[in-house]
Amino acid sequence: MTTTGRFELAAAEAVDGGDFAADVRAGLEARPRRLSCRWFYDAEGSRLFEAICGVPEYYPPRAEREILERRAAEILDRVGSVDSVWELGSGSAVKTRLLLEPLLREGPATYVAVDISRSALEESAASLLGSYPSLRVLAVHGDYEEGLRRLSGWAQPKLLLWLGSNVGNFDRAEAARFLRRVREALGPADRLLLGVDLRKERATLEAAYDDAQGVTAAFNLNLLARINRELGGQFDLAGFRHLARYDVVRGCVDMFLVSRRAQRVRIEGLDLELSFEPGEEIHTESSHKYSREELAELALASELRIDRLWTDDDGRFADLLLAPSDG
Ligand code: TRP
Repeated sequence: MTTTGRFELAAAEAVDGGDFAADVRAGLEARPRRLSCRWFYDAEGSRLFEAICGVPEYYPPRAEREILERRAAEILDRVGSVDSVWELGSGSAVKTRLLLEPLLREGPATYVAVDISRSALEESAASLLGSYPSLRVLAVHGDYEEGLRRLSGWAQPKLLLWLGSNVGNFDRAEAARFLRRVREALGPADRLLLGVDLRKERATLEAAYDDAQGVTAAFNLNLLARINRELGGQFDLAGFRHLARYDVVRGCVDMFLVSRRAQRVRIEGLDLELSFEPGEEIHTESSHKYSREELAELALASELRIDRLWTDDDGRFADLLLAPSDG
């Protein structure tokens, strides 16, 4: 742990190192093959994700920004006084500023950022500390589990942010299970602001996850590049293509890397040799979309009460203020 006045970085070991190797082996040996989305965010992946947030087709960041720009005062008003703001998957934390700014006008505050990308944490913390002299930042380099561990027991009242439709990366049952654990880590005076992408027509969704400039494709393929860099993999990136496919029944965009041809790939560091058939898919991420009814069901199953729900003008995205059912 490093401490320099207003900044502290706490690291959990499990986010890199051995876990990556073991997870890649298990996922690529499984049928159907899969790679976990938690490995997207090395320094290059975090940079590419920020670029995705700027492509015209990927509407969620802009839709959520519109909500927060318009509603920040109202959100904070309903939350009441808090002395810490927590964020799971904080990334660049640019949207977070819209809430931190009005909060800091009331007095000093602590921001606890939890992210799996160390470079994203360091850059966002430096930038926030530069902007806000009365802000204290605790950066937790770790996954959601690490975030939950630290959250429970921290003084009330606090506001927890889980934005960007990150909840969509869980399936519906997993999302409810995880949110129930979040709820257990919250006291009655704490609040959760949850950003969720809403169900909509296929063309908009598939374009959002397969932009014309190919930034999303590069982001997905970076997983194979990361295996090449860190595990001595010999993936030919030109031998795979990015695919985003919306399943309307599950309400979910699934992302894959598809083998363009029959090929064998060696991963030196795992002493592993894989053979792919033409068209064979590696699943890399799912992004679940919610209807209003499904949001109500999710809250109920998580023992959370919806205090308020806001959407952008086009009804593409929702931010929900959630309270423990007894809060
Ligand atoms: N979790 C984000 C989402 O589902 C991240 C994301 C955006 C993403 N585009 C992607 C993940 C493409 C994998 C591939 O919206």
